Amino acid sequence: METLDDIARDLAVRLGTMDHPGLVPAIDGRLAQLPAEAVAAVRPPGDAGAVIISGLQVDDARLGPTPGSWREAAGTGLEFELILLLLARAAGEPFGWRGQQDGRLVNSIVPSRGQEASQTGASSATTLAPHTEDAFHPRRANLLLLGCLRNPVRVGTTIASVRRTRLDHDQQQLLAEPALPILPDTSYGTHHDQEAAPGVPTLWTGPDGTTLRYDPAYTPLDRATPAHRAAYARLSGELDRVSVTAALGAGELLMIDNDVAVHGRVPFRARYDGTDRWLKRINVRLRDRPRRPAEATEDGYGEELVEPFRHG
Ligand SMILES: [Fe+2]
Repeated sequence: METLDDIARDLAVRLGTMDHPGLVPAIDGRLAQLPAEAVAAVRPPGDAGAVIISGLQVDDARLGPTPGSWREAAGTGLEFELILLLLARAAGEPFGWRGQQDGRLVNSIVPSRGQEASQTGASSATTLAPHTEDAFHPRRANLLLLGCLRNPVRVGTTIASVRRTRLDHDQQQLLAEPALPILPDTSYGTHHDQEAAPGVPTLWTGPDGTTLRYDPAYTPLDRATPAHRAAYARLSGELDRVSVTAALGAGELLMIDNDVAVHGRVPFRARYDGTDRWLKRINVRLRDRPRRPAEATEDGYGEELVEPFRHG
């Protein structure tokens, strides 16, 4: 019986790069051979909104120093990227964004010089505020996989499930109104027309519970009524109250339900000496989880998905 690591190692030898044109059929061709426990591990995590999967293979000596930017990191850690992609494919349909990290399916998260204070994964010195990944887009991920290659000083990733929060009925009603837009984050560029942006609800009741779409750093709260602002502030306070911190170690994978939980990161001091925290990220869509029909009319600010695993 082959392990997940065996399968990833074999694929790495055969493909040599994530850019190989045979990547998608090669991944799909091995899905039926994945160990049952690996497939079971990537089921949506329920109301907790997140789960940690441990024991993925990371060969620190072969990795080399942590790169200084996603661009330098692209193409590194091939076996680990294949492990993530296999798990993501077992969960659903992995996808990338054409306008982010050159459309790669597996993205790299490393601190970058000059980005220390930004609200993106390249930041470090600032708190990365809790957010829904790609909240601005109607086709954002349902599941987000964050795999850890290296995190020697145990920088914490924060997770907060909306299903652990307590809001009163009036606040929930206000936050269900499509009152405010969510603008694209700066990792997609800064060319967006803020005035034409459609309002979207912050939370609503989905088929299996409360569903959240939240990114205060990119939500123009100054446009809201005082009552709406107060409800939003209450939600933020509740998310802080229920927030938990995961200090991922090498070989650990955090799987977040992006409809249920928000995530962020505590501040840290990037050293840029090759030992900094290094994560790989992959987005997954779940075919059996429809979103609100109203989202189908949003254009997502023109940001396009790269979705080679989507069939029909
Ligand atoms: Fe994020």
